[in-house]
Amino acid sequence: MRAVDIIIKKRDRLELSEQEIRFFIQGVTTGDIPDYQAAAWAMAVLLNGMTARETTDLTLAMAESGEMLDLSGVVDIAVDKHSTGGVGDKTTLVVEPLVAACGLPVGKMSGRGLGFSGGTLDKMESIPGYNTRLTREQFLAQLRDIGLVLTGQSGDLAPADGKLYALRDVTGTVPSIPLIASSIMSKKIAAGAQAIVLDVKVGVGAFMQTLDQARELARLMTAIAARSGRRAVALLSDMNQPLGCAVGNALEVREAIETLHGGGPADFVEHCLTVAAHLLVLGRRAEGLDAARRMAEQKLADGSAWAMFRTLVQAQGGDVRFVDEPQRLPTAPFIELIPAPRAGYVTAMDAREIGETAVTLGAGRARKEDAVDPAVGVVVHHKVGDWVETGQPLFTIHANSREALSAARQRLLAACRWSEQPCPPLPLFYEVID
Ligand code: URA
Repeated sequence: MRAVDIIIKKRDRLELSEQEIRFFIQGVTTGDIPDYQAAAWAMAVLLNGMTARETTDLTLAMAESGEMLDLSGVVDIAVDKHSTGGVGDKTTLVVEPLVAACGLPVGKMSGRGLGFSGGTLDKMESIPGYNTRLTREQFLAQLRDIGLVLTGQSGDLAPADGKLYALRDVTGTVPSIPLIASSIMSKKIAAGAQAIVLDVKVGVGAFMQTLDQARELARLMTAIAARSGRRAVALLSDMNQPLGCAVGNALEVREAIETLHGGGPADFVEHCLTVAAHLLVLGRRAEGLDAARRMAEQKLADGSAWAMFRTLVQAQGGDVRFVDEPQRLPTAPFIELIPAPRAGYVTAMDAREIGETAVTLGAGRARKEDAVDPAVGVVVHHKVGDWVETGQPLFTIHANSREALSAARQRLLAACRWSEQPCPPLPLFYEVID
């Protein structure tokens, strides 16, 4: 078999066999297939697509390209959740302790932010001492001992995806639905997940900008799960405006803590309870969504979810004084409240613009190797559909220089659009696909 023939076959819109896909992925993993051939193949897939069967074979080949975690000796059912990435999405910080408090153990390997979308590891690392590099043994021991782990992906899981993703990032081949679906699902399968809740974001602040694209990605990922003997449910959720109010690492940790104490923005609380309820049903801790939701509401209200979060931080070496008193978390030297320049109904709070503004302030990274500033970011005080009076708080900017602050001010004001006419709030969820 030759890599070039496999590239030509995909270029000519033909379906690849399982053997061809396995040969190609093995060659990418070992380095026998050079980057230029892998990139040419990724472009052919982006342009010509893949069938669900090819995508499943690709997913399994990538999952099996490295270590496969087996959690069956540690938990009765290994559940996981994955968000396709968005702005202000700190759901994992609340949902994982919440379901763990309901008696459903969860060990999660999360990622860093890239581009305008934030990453769970960057958020957790704003807690001094918190270790996001657990070894496999530490991961398994902590999952067994406290039923909750939140760490980075081990280097041995799905290495083929690691290599391909890095290439896709610099060759314009990220936005391919089969490549995204196989990339996400290969990591979940390699991490041992048997049941997965997929939070597929849709809107201007997401990879999937339209409902049709999000639906296609969700259907493909749930089909891959079914074909590979896993269960999955996909929630299509809105990402036209940020989720909750805080965008930026320490700011988002503070908002998650507030939520775990029973407060938090209404949209974010609702989002977390819905995701948690689906996880509890998939993890067989509740008969149906209503019972699951009641269980989650109770564990949020009685402080058990917060206690789990604190236990997690402590177990992973974080200094709990910073979560007990979140005002100790990194704070930016320049904080400015931006008042509304006019009265009206808010018709848009452009999530991508707000996410990119936070990145420019230093909350995110343009390249994988860049460092992030944990303290900076934006707090959004209003949602689409709100009536706002002139002078009411619209945004708060947390910056590390005056220049960054004034650039952010202009950009944020342009990210907000207005009308004299009432405008309906955006839905939180569009569809559930299982
Ligand atoms: N997230 C992933 O893990 N992979 C992709 O290809 C896109 C988003």
